Amino acid sequence: MKYDIEKFKNILEGRLSKKRYIHSINVADKAQKLAEIWGADDEKAYVAGLLHDICKDIPHTEQRKLIELSNKDVTDEEFVIPQLWHGIAGEVYCRTILGIEDDDILNSIRFHTVARKNMSLLEEIIYLADLTSADREYPDVDYMRKLVKKDIEESMIYALQYSVSDVTKRKSLLPKHTIEAYNGYIYNSKKARKTDDSE
Ligand SMILES: [Fe+2]
Ligand SMILES: [Fe+2]
Repeated sequence: MKYDIEKFKNILEGRLSKKRYIHSINVADKAQKLAEIWGADDEKAYVAGLLHDICKDIPHTEQRKLIELSNKDVTDEEFVIPQLWHGIAGEVYCRTILGIEDDDILNSIRFHTVARKNMSLLEEIIYLADLTSADREYPDVDYMRKLVKKDIEESMIYALQYSVSDVTKRKSLLPKHTIEAYNGYIYNSKKARKTDDSE
């Protein structure tokens, strides 16, 4: 064990509401399971899942201060949507305060709300664990829980489809990273299909 999980849990308990703390443990458990299925590092998955919402319950003014310190491609739309700040702030917090150096863990936290193009396996796992953890309830959740075990790319497409349509229905801004993520997965799946056809 490279990481002191108990220490992280204690820090989280002091920073998060009870409900969010339970969500964080659930996401960590889910991420660990998905890592085992898909062949990612299960300790990194657990740590990233555990810490992904570490800045979600601090005031937006504090999140804002942290995102100013981000060096991870914060876009114009992200700067004006406070709901998107906690992932960016969480990455900065984990790097500067908790001393986490692993870039894959840090990117998984940074992009867990908006996604991005060319996500690593660990980034995908955290994005999807957040949507399928034990505490999640929405009409398609059982379908999603099955899909993430079968096809991670299709799960990303399904989740991003939902995200894009939800954002546009609310007439909110679509983050550039989300558009690029969606296009990237669609582009790759069409390319894969073409290759299949030509065989
Ligand atoms: Fe989050
Ligand atoms: Fe979350």
